[in-house]
Amino acid sequence: MTSTTRTPDRPEIAEHPRMSVVGVGYLGATHAACMAALGFEVLGVDIDEVKIAALRSGRVPFFEPGLQELLVEQLASGRLRFSTDFDEAARFGDVHFICVGTPQAADSPAADLTYVDAAVDALASRIDRRALIVGKSTVPTGTAERLTERIREIAPAGAELELAWNPEFLREGFAVDDTLHPDRLVFGVASEWAERQLAAAYAPLFADETPLVVTDLATAELVKVAANSFLATKISYINAMAEVCEATGADVDHLASALSFDSRIGGRFLKPGLGFGGGCLPKDIRAFTHRAEELGVGQAVAFLHEVDHINTRRRLRTVDLVREAAGGELRGAAVAALGAAFKPDSDDVRDAPALDVARMLWLEGADVRVYDPHANENAHRAYPDLVYADSMADAVEGADVVALLTEWAEFAEADPEELGDRVANRRIVDGRHALDGDAYRAAGWEVRSLGRPAVSEEPRVEASVPSRRR
Ligand code: UGA
Repeated sequence: MTSTTRTPDRPEIAEHPRMSVVGVGYLGATHAACMAALGFEVLGVDIDEVKIAALRSGRVPFFEPGLQELLVEQLASGRLRFSTDFDEAARFGDVHFICVGTPQAADSPAADLTYVDAAVDALASRIDRRALIVGKSTVPTGTAERLTERIREIAPAGAELELAWNPEFLREGFAVDDTLHPDRLVFGVASEWAERQLAAAYAPLFADETPLVVTDLATAELVKVAANSFLATKISYINAMAEVCEATGADVDHLASALSFDSRIGGRFLKPGLGFGGGCLPKDIRAFTHRAEELGVGQAVAFLHEVDHINTRRRLRTVDLVREAAGGELRGAAVAALGAAFKPDSDDVRDAPALDVARMLWLEGADVRVYDPHANENAHRAYPDLVYADSMADAVEGADVVALLTEWAEFAEADPEELGDRVANRRIVDGRHALDGDAYRAAGWEVRSLGRPAVSEEPRVEASVPSRRR
């Protein structure tokens, strides 16, 4: 039940708000299940009947560790339901979370806001009482201001219906944990009421002392793209260092290890390799650059073009390494492509570096066999011409070169001897710096990695020797 409090000069807030979550993809399905787990009544809504039917029957239509169990548990609790009926959502929710996608537009680097606009329209045109719409999707700054005006125009509730922006920072593969235990919450609000209403919606998280930043709408929109740009820049930074290492004979893994001990730099997102992909980082830096250019401050983020280029070059360079390992010619070479997802513990192949490399190898005439523990199906849908293997053993059978492209534990933990018995040549390109190169070399493998000399040793970190100086 919704309970409300009212003081004479302050509009009421729903202390235990009922929630609708519009868009039940990676973000929305996770958010809906987690909010139900926190004790709220939640209605997940989407125009995609197939997705809604799957979720209703307790099946998550994508791979996200822990979400399947949580969904089943929360459906059974009776707090979580799914529907395609926006009338029901508009009546039901005190707080409506917008979780639809904002992919890159087909013909430009800008974000495609079609789904956000449609979701807000569908809800706002039906809401006739005090309620809060909360944008969680990643949008160009200025979107919330535009949508606020739109809501005023079309909502039967008029100014009683408000908009807030509350970016999410969840990572695929850790989505449930990131939602239940976020690093921080950001509330972009235009009124004190909106802030109090959002605080009520996240009240259980404050028991964990989750840091909260309350700000205006434009800053909240910006936080998300600024965070993703920073992460992308950090990855491209170490990959740029890998390029320098290649020219100097230095070893980027040793370099990253040494840098990581500087607590101002830190080791996270400093992993060199094939670079970033997925449905967020690549399109977010492009949309951000585009928006900054529109706002006349393109120069301020022009470096993000370079971040993007460094990232793309890593894919081409990985193809070069595989070609070199194959003896200089890819045509006819049997290549096992281990991994298709943009990162492990995900079946997402959107802008996946792994799949991109597999495709380029195939285009050069290699006989490529792709295997991913969870993403084969999505990869096949994206690139039906590639050949997919049912297991790692199948993929590597008779391979001239093995290319590790997504660092699933299954690949990183494989036994170099066992693997070696299946391949035609013990040659491996470690596109993710995930293997114990020493163990592979000891088993007679030729190991190649971006930014590392052909003959290299794994970085050693030892307790420092006592200084002789006083
Ligand atoms: C990213 C952000 O990390 C989340 O905070 C954000 O909420 C999310 O985007 C989003 O915008 O929704 P995600 O796309 O799930 O999350 O993946 P990440 O873990 O950030 O990895 C992105 C890519 O960078 C992957 O391809 C990964 O392999 C690569 N990466 C990551 C590296 O190449 N090196 C690293 O050191 C770290």
